[in-house]
Amino acid sequence: MPGKIIAGADHGGFRLKQYLVDVLREWGYEVEDVGVFSEDSVDYPDIADKLARRVLEVEGSRGLLLCGTGIGVSIAANKVDGIRAAHVSDPYSAAMAAAHNNANVLAMGGRVVGPELAKSILKAYLDTPFEGGRHQRRVDKIMALEHK
Ligand code: RB5
Repeated sequence: MPGKIIAGADHGGFRLKQYLVDVLREWGYEVEDVGVFSEDSVDYPDIADKLARRVLEVEGSRGLLLCGTGIGVSIAANKVDGIRAAHVSDPYSAAMAAAHNNANVLAMGGRVVGPELAKSILKAYLDTPFEGGRHQRRVDKIMALEHK
């Protein structure tokens, strides 16, 4: 099973994270859960920052990042140099986030997608390889924006 999964959520994504961490382990993935571990209110940029830095530290890892909508954590994670967080709510976009954007973080909303849809989204993301080629050139252009 390639690559460790770093999972994280704020209070709005906590329940979905708990569910998806179990699913990932059932699928045979090694998972590092960076929190949160309760529904107590936290500030989502803090968990996005923590998760993003672990994804960059752990070679070959990818992130699963959740908040209420998935929006706040994805905006925050994308501020970290080297992160390409894709906020998605459907399996097709999740597959394209992997195939075309080489997203290293998948973001979803715990108050938006139900557990079974979230599982399908996660599977589509993890099972889809990056296509490279012209998409590599485009991803390189995205990353170059961080230093412009
Ligand atoms: C927290 O109430 C909520 O704002 C957060 O989980 C997320 O949806 C932000 O984008």
